[in-house]
Amino acid sequence: MRPLSNFAARDVETLLHPTTNLLAHRSLGPLVVERAEGVYVYDTAGKRYIEGLAGLWCTGLGYGNQELVETAREQMSRLSFTHLFGGRSHEPAIALAEKIKAMAPAPTSKVFFTNSGSEANDTQIKIAWYFNNARGQPKRKKIISRHRAYHGTTIATASLSGLAVFHADFDLPMARVLHTDCPHHWRSAEPGESEEDYASRLARNLEELIEREGPETIAAFIAEPVMGAGGVIMPPKTYFEEIQAVLSRHGIALIADEVICGFARTGNWWGSQTYGIRPDTVTMAKAITSAYVPLGGLTISEDVYQALLEESGKHGVFAHGFTYSGHPLACAVALKTIEIYERINIVAHVRRVAPIFALRLNALADHPLVGDARSVGLLGALELVKNKRSKENFDPKLGVGGRVARFAEEEGLICRAVGGDNIGLCPPLIIDGAEINAMFDMMGRALDKAEAWLRSEGQFGA
Ligand SMILES: Cc1ncc(COP(=O)(O)O)c(C=O)c1O
Repeated sequence: MRPLSNFAARDVETLLHPTTNLLAHRSLGPLVVERAEGVYVYDTAGKRYIEGLAGLWCTGLGYGNQELVETAREQMSRLSFTHLFGGRSHEPAIALAEKIKAMAPAPTSKVFFTNSGSEANDTQIKIAWYFNNARGQPKRKKIISRHRAYHGTTIATASLSGLAVFHADFDLPMARVLHTDCPHHWRSAEPGESEEDYASRLARNLEELIEREGPETIAAFIAEPVMGAGGVIMPPKTYFEEIQAVLSRHGIALIADEVICGFARTGNWWGSQTYGIRPDTVTMAKAITSAYVPLGGLTISEDVYQALLEESGKHGVFAHGFTYSGHPLACAVALKTIEIYERINIVAHVRRVAPIFALRLNALADHPLVGDARSVGLLGALELVKNKRSKENFDPKLGVGGRVARFAEEEGLICRAVGGDNIGLCPPLIIDGAEINAMFDMMGRALDKAEAWLRSEGQFGA
């Protein structure tokens, strides 16, 4: 347990923490982070940790990047704010939209900015509805997401998220949101079923769902190229090929949620490129600014733009937006972040170190607690199981994933249990080989500690 410092007492009495076990937090207390540099963060006692989850999958360039600091300082002194409502504009937003338009993996006519991934996905839904009203298909409103997806926590995006805990007692999911299979081959394939056969089965299930609901009622399908918060789940071979064939047969738009995968995480600029996805629109956030300031966004195709032009003409205004849509500070920092990614060739760097990441991650597959080790680029997970052969899970009440994350923290590594007992690993993209090795040395020791703890509790082994 962490020592309850003065900060901890104040925290527990004042802050309501997002996505936190509120009861456990009262006794465990917070990990209070004070400063950071490179891939490391330091707590208030001066202890150093490798940030093995890049904050929340977002600090691509790591911490303390003085170019970004200077860019922010300059932008704030020149123009701290102007909005984009009613046709007002500013150069950082224009330049960033041009940049995104040139690099997005979807046919892009315009770019809309938000403050977060949730707002961007929320906007995707609103635009899908508005678009279908505009083109005279007012019944086409349902959005298909997937079990174990994570698309945010607003009313609409928590509904898209396919994780029960984000629905329970929030009276969600809302109407018009459907969920289809999570493509987790290791966990859900039939014995002996190949990845390709499994992908075909999931595509058939999707098509059945569409036919049951009525294809003319479905607006869009939303997918993360790699599911992140649901457990870091990579699509099986041919999955997106098969899913896209179904969607195009029924005229259903594909929204790629690139909030985690975008900006080099999987070894390409976009997860869509890694997995052969041809989305109609993409959502982005997180690493677009390397998390120095909040920013999200989405792309809009020419077809959709034309429909928005026409429909908003009827009402006098396209009545959607946020005070801070395209905040100049966020746009300036995003532009500089992308410039740095390009200058240091972050994609090539990720490809260079990803084999070390994969080698060390895969080696942990031999650990008695690890059922599956999987990764792409610098994104990976260890799925912990009670029985490697039967893939039996631990009793969720034991909180094994959370315990492993705390043991890792003792070792000096921050990671996170996601989607049950999956340990998510997603370090800053600038991590080097030695730091990756240090990270996995710590992870190995944390697993050993967890194994010893489980054995002493009689929860593991004979
Ligand atoms: C794939 C994905 N989409 C959307 C979101 C929501 O983004 P935000 O937390 O910025 O609202 C997240 C956050 O983790 C995410 O991983």
